[in-house]
Amino acid sequence: MPGMEFFGAEERKEVLDVLETGALFRYNHEEMRHGKWKARELEAEVRKFTGAKFAHAVSNGSAAVLAALAAAGVGHGHEVIVPPFTFMATIEAVLYAGGLPVFAEIDENLCLSVEGIRKAITPKTKAVLLVHMCGAAADMDGITALCKEKNLILVEDAGQALGAFYKGKSVGLFGTSGSFSLDFFKIATAGEGGLLITNDEQTYKDADCYSDHGHSHVGDARGMEPHPVLGFNFRISELHAAVGLAQMRKINMILKAKKANQNYLKEKLSVVKGLTFRPVPDPEGDSGTFLNFFLPTTELAGKAMAEFGKSGVAGCNYWFTNMYHFINQWDHVKGLKSSAPLAIHDLGAPQDYNNLQLPKSQNVVGRLISLGIRATWTKEQMDELVVKMITAIQKVMNS
Ligand SMILES: Cc1ncc(COP(=O)(O)O)c(C=O)c1O
Repeated sequence: MPGMEFFGAEERKEVLDVLETGALFRYNHEEMRHGKWKARELEAEVRKFTGAKFAHAVSNGSAAVLAALAAAGVGHGHEVIVPPFTFMATIEAVLYAGGLPVFAEIDENLCLSVEGIRKAITPKTKAVLLVHMCGAAADMDGITALCKEKNLILVEDAGQALGAFYKGKSVGLFGTSGSFSLDFFKIATAGEGGLLITNDEQTYKDADCYSDHGHSHVGDARGMEPHPVLGFNFRISELHAAVGLAQMRKINMILKAKKANQNYLKEKLSVVKGLTFRPVPDPEGDSGTFLNFFLPTTELAGKAMAEFGKSGVAGCNYWFTNMYHFINQWDHVKGLKSSAPLAIHDLGAPQDYNNLQLPKSQNVVGRLISLGIRATWTKEQMDELVVKMITAIQKVMNS
């Protein structure tokens, strides 16, 4: 959300730069550019911010997940452990890569748990596609140790977690590679855009080729470039990269404001008896994108959301009934309804998706409410919001 709150002169200037040269394509055409390479500059900003050795910008965060899987060698027939609580792009990416999603339990940190992953491992498990949900990191000590022990590839979908760190290290740098989204709702937006980061040069090269029809990007004659692998068109345009570049330059300011607002609201809400917060393993590294809290039961959380509606509390997400983020609503995934056959139709689903037993995830997401944090809120606005929230929550808790 906050990226769009800061759209201004800087974004316009970067876009105008591109429009003045007319070089809308991110590769080649050196003679037109007058030294302006927005996608490259965006990648440099991302490297600086995350500390990654390599960063690669693509057309969107969904494409970045697919590129990350491809570059990790995850594909046809591979079982990939995924969470039931994520944006559905995570699951679509596994399916379109030819993989077989295996759903495992999350815990109150809203991400796959070590225990959940361990229980879902079979002899066919190739990888874990870990999602850092709602702006903060998963339990990386436990998960990286388990992946090492079981010899599993770790790929990180950090679509919602640009700006999240775990013990000082950016999410996306714990596995083979990690992906971010720069869509309109994220901490930094390009309108549409995605990023892949990695510390491994070969992974970077593979992702770079994969996202541009296999082009090696070596030399200056595009038509004559070698194509080490097959790929597809997931290129970001220079116009989108220009917006993303201006936004990346603001990200530290946005992070600081969001975290301050998250802390302020957390302190205020902590007076409510029975309300608990997401136990983030590294609170320092939380990007402050959401304030995630739990009510004692699913019923109470649902009632609180209804009460928020009546009292004009905006900005709270109840993912349990949200179409995009929780498995209960994913009938098309469970029914494997695709317009054309996928590998999973031939190979068979590794689980009975219509009868999955994920009681822990059901309980966690049922009780969860996530307040999206705005960076531009004033203290007065937050005070007004929190009073309304507390009144509504206490009303349902006391009823
Ligand atoms: C966890 C996660 N992965 C992937 C994506 C896909 O990103 P995009 O919308 O840029 O395709 C999102 C988008 O919200 C997301 O939340």
